[in-house]
Amino acid sequence: MKKKVIVLTGAGISAESGIKTFRDSDGLWEEYRIEDVATYDAWLRNPALVLEFYNRRRTQLASVLPNRAHHALVMLEQKYDVRIITQNVDDLHERAGSSYILHLHGELTKVRSTANPELVTDIGYSEIGQGDKCSLGSQLRPHIVWFGEAVPLIQEASELTMQADILLVIGTSLAVYPAAGLVNYVPANCRIFLVDPGDLQVQWIKNLEFIREKAGTGVPDLVDRLLSETDNN
Ligand code: APR
Repeated sequence: MKKKVIVLTGAGISAESGIKTFRDSDGLWEEYRIEDVATYDAWLRNPALVLEFYNRRRTQLASVLPNRAHHALVMLEQKYDVRIITQNVDDLHERAGSSYILHLHGELTKVRSTANPELVTDIGYSEIGQGDKCSLGSQLRPHIVWFGEAVPLIQEASELTMQADILLVIGTSLAVYPAAGLVNYVPANCRIFLVDPGDLQVQWIKNLEFIREKAGTGVPDLVDRLLSETDNN
């Protein structure tokens, strides 16, 4: 049986594709206030601004491509059972061709009904506006988990993480919970790698190998290394 690699990705893996991260010095949260665009209160107060914020993200997504890190994770599937848990709302893991992707914080290319959260539809890279309605006749909202909202897939993500032989954490500040807490769910003998060019923020992770590199170089190198290990099946 193939060993299981759980990959937790954050905005940093898509940075070299041209998508801004959130908390870096040129990040999105320098340009916008979270409470203006990424909370349920913001949506109630000023839906036009919230829609515009996500419309911009979605339009930009249409013009970028997966990078070497996304592609390397697909190669890793040759010898490992790879499950990606991403905090990203972009679709770059999908476009690179990864087989299993769980979007903890939602997806830009989908919208959902404000009347029934189960009613989710694909919109690709189109914009949504006020007055755009679901089949039940209620306003459509971005299929995004906003701050303060529940993270419906966290249970599935933690169950997956409990089965990890290897955990790869790529391009995330691990500042946002419950996603950051997933790292605590790995079995005691699990090897953990963190690929990120920034300072190590998390001193509390045991068995951690910190690879202080950008994802576009650090991930392909790590994937090569894991593929060349012979005891993996
Ligand atoms: N390669 C790898 N990592 C990078 C790169 C790169 N080229 N460039 C920047 N990084 C790293 C930064 O050093 C930082 O640790 O990516 C991380 C980005 O952190 P955040 O901006 O906090 O993004 P993320 O951890 O994904 O944020 C979590 O917060 O705002 C919310 O919902 C949003 O899903 C998001 C969540």
